[in-house]
Amino acid sequence: MSASERFTVALIGASGLLGRAVGAELKNAVEAHDWRVVRTTHRHGDAGSVSLDIRDHDAVRAFLRREKPNAVVVAAAERRPDVCENDPALARALNVDALQTIATEARALGAWVLSISTDYVFDGTSPPYFPDDAPAPLNAYGHSKLDGERALLACDPASCVLRLPLLYGPVVDWSESAVTSLTPAIVRSADAANAPAPMDAWATRYPTYTPDVAVVIRGMLEQHAQGETISGIAQWSGDEPMTKFDIAERIARVLKLDAKLVAQTTPMDATPRPRDCHLDSGRLEALGIGRRTPFDTAIAHLLARYPEKAQ
Ligand SMILES: NC(=O)c1ccc[n+]([C@@H]2O[C@H](COP(=O)([O-])OP(=O)(O)OC[C@H]3O[C@@H](n4cnc5c(N)ncnc54)[C@H](OP(=O)(O)O)[C@@H]3O)[C@@H](O)[C@H]2O)c1
Repeated sequence: MSASERFTVALIGASGLLGRAVGAELKNAVEAHDWRVVRTTHRHGDAGSVSLDIRDHDAVRAFLRREKPNAVVVAAAERRPDVCENDPALARALNVDALQTIATEARALGAWVLSISTDYVFDGTSPPYFPDDAPAPLNAYGHSKLDGERALLACDPASCVLRLPLLYGPVVDWSESAVTSLTPAIVRSADAANAPAPMDAWATRYPTYTPDVAVVIRGMLEQHAQGETISGIAQWSGDEPMTKFDIAERIARVLKLDAKLVAQTTPMDATPRPRDCHLDSGRLEALGIGRRTPFDTAIAHLLARYPEKAQ
């Protein structure tokens, strides 16, 4: 089979928390199926990735026309709620306009788009949430991701949105994930000279391990390669509910620290966040797609090298 005939996946945003895990998992698919994977990065490039600013619409079109992918996985986004709140134009440029251009060009080329979205499209008042439940975002991030979902599916109803909750996994910096970012404060609180660390005990989260999501995405790509494309909205979530206070207690246990944690029972964040957005994962489970690593196993693995970098 020539290079142009090989099933080709374009992974846009390969340098992020999720993109790196997906890139690693797709290496296995390259070996198993002889797929071709083209990875794009922006500020954090590496050897072998293509530099692409998705706000440059001509560059996005040129990239897709050159690589002619069968499938495009979009993991590039602005996902920090406070940044989206303060810079809605940036949130829109990345989470909506860029996706619109990718969707339009991909459709013209006959490529399937799988774009990552968030549980923050819901208001968190009546979980669990099914793919068809009415979204009602509470903040600018959720609004921009919902607009992106709608732009993609309006452009090509055969494309797919994969909604995910709070992610954690191998990090280049402990602050990169909202799970591992709790660690320095937990460690500091264990020092007798320091004050207790306040931890949110109001919102229920379902921390989801990026290598598990990567397995889900690989499974969805394999379905597409076999002609059984998953279209519309799919969701994947870890199944262990916990507040950040619970997460902090587990991290302290793994690090064998006598941490001083204080449960905050009212919201602590400046940007409004939903209380409980548990995503129902039944659609993918019914297809036999998915993997869930227990939280304690995954976090112990990640923290084994604390305080050094995890990667
Ligand atoms: N993290 C979470 O807890 C979470 C939860 C639910 C859903 N999600 C969703 O999951 C997806 C992946 O999130 P993540 O946590 O992996 O995000 P991330 O770590 O912030 O990574 C963002 C990615 O977007 C790329 N990017 C940023 N600006 C770009 C630009 N102008 N042009 C091209 N690429 C650009 C970054 O590239 P460079 O680093 O090379 O600049 C990076 O690869 C997003 O859709 C997010 O909304 C995340």
